[in-house]
Formats: sequence, C-alpha cells, structure tokens
Amino acid sequence: MAKVAVIGAGNVGATCAHVLAQKDIASTVALVDIVEGMPQGKALDMRQAGPLQDYDSSVVGYNDVAEGVAGADVVVMTAGLARKPGMDRMDLLKKNLEIVAGAMKAVKAKAPGAVVVMVTNPLDVMTWVALKVTGFPRERVLGMAGVLDSTRLRTFIAMELGVSVVDVSAMVLGGHGDTMVPLPRYSTVNGVPITELLAADVIEKLSDRTRKGGGEIVALLKTGSAYYAPATSAVQMVEAVLKDRGHLLPACVALEGEYGEKGICLGVPVIIGARGLRRVVELRLTEAEKAMLKKSADSVRKGIDEVAGLIG
Ligand code: NAI
Ligand code: 2OP
Repeated sequence: MAKVAVIGAGNVGATCAHVLAQKDIASTVALVDIVEGMPQGKALDMRQAGPLQDYDSSVVGYNDVAEGVAGADVVVMTAGLARKPGMDRMDLLKKNLEIVAGAMKAVKAKAPGAVVVMVTNPLDVMTWVALKVTGFPRERVLGMAGVLDSTRLRTFIAMELGVSVVDVSAMVLGGHGDTMVPLPRYSTVNGVPITELLAADVIEKLSDRTRKGGGEIVALLKTGSAYYAPATSAVQMVEAVLKDRGHLLPACVALEGEYGEKGICLGVPVIIGARGLRRVVELRLTEAEKAMLKKSADSVRKGIDEVAGLIG
C-alpha cells in the first residue's frame, strides 16, 4: 500500500491524517510539522485509536519535512500561517509562500514521483507556487478547493430541500474565494437539476452562502477556520489518486488554454486517477457563467503576479 505525507499537523493536517487512517487506504501516513513533539504526539494518539476504529495505517510524526515526505506517493500540503495582528495580506502571502516553497523543494528532492494535493491558502496562488517550485508536470500538482466548495453547496441544497446529502451533487468552479462560480445547472438531486426543484432566488441565496462558506465558519469559530470538511475534501482527492478509479471532481489545476485561460491555476472539473490529473473536462457555459469565471480567473492572475517575482 501507499505512503501519504501530510505537511502541517494543525487543524486541517491532523484531521486529514486521521480521516486517511480511518479509511485504511495508505500503509503509512507521515504527519509533519515544525512544532517539536506535536506531530509525533498526534501520530501516536491516532495509532492508539486504530484498535478501536479498525485500522492498521501506520501514522508517524516528523519535524523534518524532507524526512517525512521521503518516498511518498501523495503529499498533502496544509502547512501555513493564519493572519496575525499587525500582518497585512501581503505579509501573509509572503510568509505562506516561504513555507510552501521550502516544503516543495523537499518534495522535489525526496518524493520526485509524488502527486501533490495543495490546501494552503491562498489556494490557487499556492498551487501555482507548488507547480513552479517542484517543476512537476501539471498532472501531479492539484489544489483542493472545489471539492470543499461543492460539498458546502451540496449540504445547503440538501438542507433546503430536506433530502439526503448522498443524493445531491454540485459543481463549483473558479478560484477559492468570493469570486468562485457555483453552477446550479450542473447541480442535481439524483439527476434532477436543482433549477427544476428550487426558485431562482433560493438558488442564488444558497450559491451566495457557498461563496461565503469559509467566512461563515471563521466568524463562528473566531480563532481559526474550517477543518473537518476541508480535511475530508483533501482525503477525497487522495483517495481518487490511490484508487485510480477516474473520479470527476472540481480541482485547481494549471490551465493550458482550457476555458480560454493559461498561465494560471484555477478550479475546473477534472478527472483524477493514479497519476493525478487525467484530463480537464470543458463544460459548456452560458455567457453569464463565462463572465463570472473570467472575473475569478482575473483575480487569481492578480495574486499570481504578486508572488511571481518573489520565487527564486
Ligand atoms: P493551523 O494553524 O491549524 O495549522 C497549520 C500548521 O502548519 C501549524 O501546526 C504550523 O505549525 C504548521 N507549519 C507552519 N510552518 C510549517 C512548515 N514550514 N513545515 C511544516 N509545518 C508548518 O491551520 P489549519 O486550520 O490547519 O489551516 C492550514 C492551511 O489550510 C491554511 O493556509 C488555511 O487557510 C488553509 N485552508 C485551505 C482550505 C481550502 O479549501 N483550500 C480550507 C481550509 C483551510
Ligand atoms: C475555507 O474555505 C478557510 O479556505 C478555508 O474554509
């Protein structure tokens, strides 16, 4: 079985490692963090939950990124800082850029065949940074945001209609932020488009709540951001790689002309298999949807331009 390395053992990273262990799809889950003893402690705790939760995954903690990622088949990157008092957006961007670039250099050296699943924010920009620093083909650098944004929309649709979440599928494209593009025409309840089941103003309300989904949880938690759904979303992508079944998911990938964009990483529907991206799926969009996606792409491009000069 495979080795999955999770960089960052904070809320998202530790939850991700635990969900991965529970699924028993990797023989080794390496949990890496710079805080001394913390990843080792959490890893040991997860090992001790194994007998109760019926898993044998070997969860191991590391402080050294190079050691932790060595030989990994999949690397999930969750390390990063949250904004602290006195830090502006650019300070945060620079700090996370430093963290991502440092970790990706280790991935390039020690796990040269890995598929990378990026989680660190700002997601689309950091996925681009990971692509540049590793030099990996675009197929092996995927960003997680669309799965999360779509699962939020799925949840809101199910809550509104009083149906099982299992029956609801949804598609959200674009960058991870206010400009994301929920696609109601491609969101269904067991094949029935939600446009047949809900009034336009209700759909808009659910789409808007999805766009602001991360902020809603930050406002409630006050000291951090969401992690259960984000971690489980990253695991869904890891599982798509490890099981090689060809799942169609929205993910952030480098575009090479698809959707009229190139030189940026953006959330689009893709098919994922063992080697990562199998192909980008180009949906037919209305003029209004195209305009929203363009706006989202422009906002991601602006973020990439800001960091492009900073990576060596
Ligand atoms: P957290 O603060 O709980 O954990 C971050 C961890 O990274 C900390 O334990 C810290 O010690 C560690 N770290 C910092 N520098 C490191 C380095 N150089 N090497 C290894 N570990 C290092 O934060 P949380 O809630 O886990 O979020 C992590 C990141 O994921 C943030 O950037 C957050 O914004 C992002 N995020 C992205 C989502 C998405 O949809 N893409 C959803 C949720 C969170
Ligand atoms: C979220 O959407 C903070 O990106 C994170 O919850």
